[in-house]
Amino acid sequence: MTLRLGDIAPDFTAETTEGPIHFHEYLGDGWGVLFSHPADYTPVCTTELGAVAKLRDEFNKRNTKVIALSVDGLESHKDWIGDINETQNTMVNFPLIADEDFKVSNLYDMIHPNSSEKATVRSVFVIGPDKKIKLIFTYPASTGRNFDELLRVIDSLQLTAYHSVATPANWKHGEDVVVVPSIKTEDIPAKFPKGHKVIKPYLRTTPQPNID
Ligand code: BEZ
Repeated sequence: MTLRLGDIAPDFTAETTEGPIHFHEYLGDGWGVLFSHPADYTPVCTTELGAVAKLRDEFNKRNTKVIALSVDGLESHKDWIGDINETQNTMVNFPLIADEDFKVSNLYDMIHPNSSEKATVRSVFVIGPDKKIKLIFTYPASTGRNFDELLRVIDSLQLTAYHSVATPANWKHGEDVVVVPSIKTEDIPAKFPKGHKVIKPYLRTTPQPNID
């Protein structure tokens, strides 16, 4: 199934290292990240899951739940978590889906047969509180993902959702943001009391609204 931005994230039930889950119920009314890795007991995946575990406070601050997936079984996941904790100096603190029957992988198009018929690629889906897909990205098996970039995009998505601003190229937390086109320039002062600049009628910037 090909999923696109704005589609409802398909719901499913699955076995995980933290017990059976009903995906939409698991997400509750917050944000979610569903990400796949090619296989347990592989080096890049080991570093990735460790990196995500270390970012737990950052995901919590963003009201975002994380869940990982591969087509390995539950016992394999559970044993491998011991290695991740040992080698990455952390404690895995999110569930891993055991998708042995490829049910979820197929729902989310995580198997790219010309890459591998037997393993998921490194897919990432960010899901909003409305259960709609807000971000999709795919990395090859040999490239570990940049989870700081994932947090940066979640920050941008939440700024748009809650503050009517977008983020410019290479934006970083604390830098000026862009007022969305749907807001009229004459309405900006009331909505953005920190000030604004009109660089062009369609390019209006303002300090990041959700920081002091
Ligand atoms: C890894 O996680 O290290 C990996 C997995 C599949 C292919 C290449 C690397």
